[in-house]
Amino acid sequence: MSLKKISKVQPELFEFSKKNLEKANNEIKKYPKDKKASAVLALLYLAQNQNENWIPLAAIKYIAGLLNMPYIKIYEVVTFYSMFNLSPVGKYFVQVCTTTPCMIRGAYKLVEACKEKISDKEKELSKDKNCSWMEVECLGACVNGPMMQINDNYFEDLDKEKTIKIIDQILKGDKPKPGSYRGRINSEPENNRKTLVENKNA
Ligand code: FES
Repeated sequence: MSLKKISKVQPELFEFSKKNLEKANNEIKKYPKDKKASAVLALLYLAQNQNENWIPLAAIKYIAGLLNMPYIKIYEVVTFYSMFNLSPVGKYFVQVCTTTPCMIRGAYKLVEACKEKISDKEKELSKDKNCSWMEVECLGACVNGPMMQINDNYFEDLDKEKTIKIIDQILKGDKPKPGSYRGRINSEPENNRKTLVENKNA
């Protein structure tokens, strides 16, 4: 799921910044000249990052021009993949996983924190228009649930209090540390358990 509703307010123009144009050209160079279209996902990702986490229609047209692709083909890609948004989601886009493993470990406490700190309703911008949140399906970090993704970073092993703290920091412009909030390194077992090392028959 993502914000697939097309924004009524659209910028007239979109172009890559100098740095992103360079990155885009490097992506395009990875493919044979008649297969430029293969760079479409990478270019859309760059456009979304440049435009505060959403893709305006002008960016779809611009990328269509760069890749010599029909506009509608790029539109099909954007609407198919869940990671692309077609409406503003704010500079900070919070995605809370509420699939079963995270849900049974307290994901709805994270949702409560988002409602309190960002907006009562999901997919709605906060008052300062800087942030929004939504529930999403599994983000592939089940063993560290409950968790949320903010822009490109994963915050894991959370509870309501920790979620509030992270959102507060983000909204102040700080950069909280991604990863486990119970002190684990990646998804290592807690309490220094080393079953496979200690039990020869494991
Ligand atoms: S169930 Fe939440 S990350 Fe997989």
